[in-house]
Amino acid sequence: MDTTTYRAYTNIALIKYWGKRNKELFLPVTSSLSLTLNEFYTETTLEWNTQSNEDTFTLDGQILDINAIEKVSRFINMFRDLSGIHRPVHVKSTNHVPTAAGLASSASAFAALASACNDLFGTNLSNKELSTYARRGSGSATRSLFGGFTVWHKGIGDESDSSYAEMIDEADWDIGMLVVMINKEQKKISSRVGMEHTIKTSPFYKLWPETVAEDLEAIIPAIENRDFPTIGQIAEHNAMKMHATIIAADPSMTYWEPESLTAMNIVRDLREAGIPCYFTMDAGPNVKVLCRLSQAEEIKKAFEKHFSSDRLVISGPGKGPHKIS
Ligand code: PMV
Repeated sequence: MDTTTYRAYTNIALIKYWGKRNKELFLPVTSSLSLTLNEFYTETTLEWNTQSNEDTFTLDGQILDINAIEKVSRFINMFRDLSGIHRPVHVKSTNHVPTAAGLASSASAFAALASACNDLFGTNLSNKELSTYARRGSGSATRSLFGGFTVWHKGIGDESDSSYAEMIDEADWDIGMLVVMINKEQKKISSRVGMEHTIKTSPFYKLWPETVAEDLEAIIPAIENRDFPTIGQIAEHNAMKMHATIIAADPSMTYWEPESLTAMNIVRDLREAGIPCYFTMDAGPNVKVLCRLSQAEEIKKAFEKHFSSDRLVISGPGKGPHKIS
């Protein structure tokens, strides 16, 4: 085989990953849990490089320079070492996120790249094994090796193999998200820097591992029972607790913008009006509203009073990576 193309979807954490216990191996302090989304994905084509002795990389039609490609090359080295095939490759990636999304694409990007590497280098890893490789590109990519509701197990000690993802529910029921795009700018503080700073300086961080363990223990049966309000309440509270640890760092950090607060208030108003929906936010200002997919249009209408419709995207649950023929 000379070329392969894979598509992988992004995921949004309902129980957040915030902090590494081993930076080299991307081993997290806690386990986490997400919902994969079908509207946001990356497609990556990987082929043997016959034009150059180095790896080359085109992202969204732009040829990337040597510095930008270094991380990607190091990632691909894991598959070269595993297969014993030390050939350079050409990577062509396209992110399919609506313009102005400002959503992190590293999860879908590294899940697509790991899947394509597995195919081209013939390493035959299962998606569970592959998730431990994707993890080393970006922590959240671990969970994009599966669809639906997926848990990323934190694992044991410094054992890389024990920190993998596992799907716990296909999410083939009435659930989805409305993504409210507040800002397309690159985030000012990367999640890597934000996590390190929070761990080092936030007095609240010591409470984080315990509260995540409790939230996971409560949300897993709620997902099994398709108990949407309980899932939403736990997810919203977990996101706010993560942001509380971040806000309490020294110097303090905030990922929110004024419009993020507007979006949170719309969600609260909708709930008061009897429409169950819950917000979550990551290391950026965008707000993701967890809702019943059947009510997403109605919720979007309420948001259209404050946000233009091109900043609002409804998504149902996505699946795991797949090969594009
Ligand atoms: O792995 P990264 O760098 O994409 O960090 C993800 C951090 C959060 O999005 C805030 C939480 C999460 O679990 O996805």
